[in-house]
Amino acid sequence: MTSIPCEPATRPAAPVVLLVDDQRVNLILLRGLLSPDYHLLEADSGAQALALAAADPRPDLILLDIMMPDMDGYEVLRRLRAQPATCEIPVIFVTAMTEENDERVGLTLGAVDYLTKPLRSPILLARVRTQLELKQGRDELQLRNDSLEVAVQQRTQSLSEALAHQRELNQRLEQAQLQLLQSEKMASLGQFAAGVAHEINNPISFVRSNLGTLKTYFEDVMAVVQAGDAVCRQAGAGPAGAAVADYQRLCQDKDLPYLREDLVQVLDESREGLDRVSRIVADLKNFSRFGREDWAWVDLHEGLHATLRLMAGQRPPGCEVQLDLAPELPLVKCIAPQMHQVFMNLLTNAVQAMQGRGCIRIATRRLDESRVELRFEDSGPGIAAEHLGRIFDPFFTTQAVGQGMGLGLSISWGIVHRHAGQLTAHNREQGGACFVLQLPLDPQASSAAPSSRVGLGAPVLLPTEGIS
Ligand SMILES: Nc1ncnc2c1ncn2[C@@H]1O[C@H](COP(=O)(O)OP(=O)(O)O)[C@@H](O)[C@H]1O
Ligand SMILES: [Mg+2]
Repeated sequence: MTSIPCEPATRPAAPVVLLVDDQRVNLILLRGLLSPDYHLLEADSGAQALALAAADPRPDLILLDIMMPDMDGYEVLRRLRAQPATCEIPVIFVTAMTEENDERVGLTLGAVDYLTKPLRSPILLARVRTQLELKQGRDELQLRNDSLEVAVQQRTQSLSEALAHQRELNQRLEQAQLQLLQSEKMASLGQFAAGVAHEINNPISFVRSNLGTLKTYFEDVMAVVQAGDAVCRQAGAGPAGAAVADYQRLCQDKDLPYLREDLVQVLDESREGLDRVSRIVADLKNFSRFGREDWAWVDLHEGLHATLRLMAGQRPPGCEVQLDLAPELPLVKCIAPQMHQVFMNLLTNAVQAMQGRGCIRIATRRLDESRVELRFEDSGPGIAAEHLGRIFDPFFTTQAVGQGMGLGLSISWGIVHRHAGQLTAHNREQGGACFVLQLPLDPQASSAAPSSRVGLGAPVLLPTEGIS
């Protein structure tokens, strides 16, 4: 076998033609005809032909003899077609066989043409040129297809990136609209709450003052009654005996000693009730400071207590709350009404999940030098595994239509992120859900400084649940 050498990496300028024939004289003849125009490779057996066809430079065309010892041309062609590296190379059979049947077999196997010996040079050259031109055309087409495919892929990629970007923008827009809607709703709710609180404060203060006066008057009245009692006892069965007897009977019927004792208690209890109303009004006012975004150092325990007091009315009697509060939890810099809103949303969800029966445990602790952690655990059914990844999505809810908007957690998540904190959820081993809220003591000093931007992860939002 002879091969005109060539650098494997650099392709010859002329088309590469592989000549395969076991007869040396045939190879010489073909070489004489084709070498002026083509880069030739030569093989004198099927095995060598297969090796050269798969090596560099890859032939553009193979002239293949059929009758060869060891491996005939048909087998060589079959093997060429079986290999991805060689299956596309066009093959022209060159043979002394003239049987039409042989031509048919060759062409069926995938030969592109069939030349019979003795070869006539113009026909040989014309057919070789035609096949090479066809091959070149196919290669160019393939190249264009490839680059078109790359271009299509790039375009598809950039389109899908643009689409993803668009989707994100839409989502942000939706979130911003939602927040706007919510803050408007909460602003008016807040105004309403503040108005109600103001109106209630007035009667509270005069009822409180009247209760004080009532207690003093009552003591005076009792002093008078006691004095009358003493006079009656001295008068005994004198001239006013009948009136005295009536008076004493009346005192007995009305159980005067009991009245004296109980009335003071009733007045004290009423005062206590009023104090409670005042506290609720104060909490309400606190909550209603929506729109105001005061960052302040806040005692989260006080916030938790205030939230629980506000929720007391909504909490069914079968719903117990356990507090496991760290003795000296440091103050946290936050926007208090927003943080209260997070507490309220988490607690409302827990109460709803437990359907009014069970236990909520709130535990707080200092996590490290710069962070605190609050855990809200409940004994409800927990969160279905397939929902765990979605509960913080806006509008995700498993509640019946009209009962839940699916905003509580997404808004809470946004608030917590605005405070450079983290809000996560998992199911407890013993059943029930656990929401873990981690907050930096000073979000503005933490590496993930809070954002004032309105958008995903930074809602400026207020209660969706709880106060209404
Ligand atoms: N403590 C919890 N236990 C079980 N599931 C919960 C709990 N908290 C939230 N979820 C799930 O997360 C969903 C979304 O909650 P949320 O955003 O507050 O919206 P909503 O309360 O309006 O449904 C709820 O519908 C519920 O499926
Ligand atoms: Mg909710």
